[in-house]
Amino acid sequence: MTRGAFIAFEGMDGSGKSTVMEKTMFELSGNGYSIRWTAEPTHQGTGKHIRDRLNAKWPPKGTMSDLAAAAVYTRLFFADRIEHNALDIQPNLSKRINIFTDRSYGSTVAYQSAQGYPIEKLAGEVEWLVGKSMIERPDLMVVLDVSVPTALARLAKTGKKPDKFEDPEFLPKLHEAYGNLPKYLPNDRIEFVDAERPLKEVVVDVCSRIRPLLVKKAA
Ligand code: TYD
Repeated sequence: MTRGAFIAFEGMDGSGKSTVMEKTMFELSGNGYSIRWTAEPTHQGTGKHIRDRLNAKWPPKGTMSDLAAAAVYTRLFFADRIEHNALDIQPNLSKRINIFTDRSYGSTVAYQSAQGYPIEKLAGEVEWLVGKSMIERPDLMVVLDVSVPTALARLAKTGKKPDKFEDPEFLPKLHEAYGNLPKYLPNDRIEFVDAERPLKEVVVDVCSRIRPLLVKKAA
């Protein structure tokens, strides 16, 4: 039996990812398709715990090396993802519900490698967990690509207090790390979308990539 389509939206903070995702869902829902929105970090359990740490910019300065901090975040994000997969993603995909996730393991490979964790270890863990059916490989990973100055300008416009990774020194490393994803995740279908363009154009482009993958509910 075919499962629903699993689509991951990826990109730097400030890429406009959440807005593009919302408009894309609006465009594609209906016509016999059922689409569920979800996100990582999740909003319960481990995910909520991660969000508290990010808001507090954990770890406190001088308490541990960048590598140690990246190692802790890596483990927390994978733990959240394994729970999310078992409790939410698998049960819904098996009901032929299409799932759009605001971030998945593409974020861990990009963000935690930009934090200094070895990218090949992150990619190796992804392959191992996928192989053991503990996390799901997306049918398509859409990376919303913007330049660092655009991301910074969009973040400044939100007026929100920046969290740990919304940092002008971190974003250039993150941009480079996203560019490395195809090399380190060769089994993934990763498509970069120019998200510098007007929102409408970006949404039309993203919809045209996703539409052929969607699965209809059984009659
Ligand atoms: P974000 O998508 O910005 O959540 P929200 O829009 O609800 O605030 O995710 C929170 C942060 O977590 C963001 O800076 C990216 C980071 N992150 C990682 O570093 N690794 C990961 O594996 C994931 C899923 C997110």
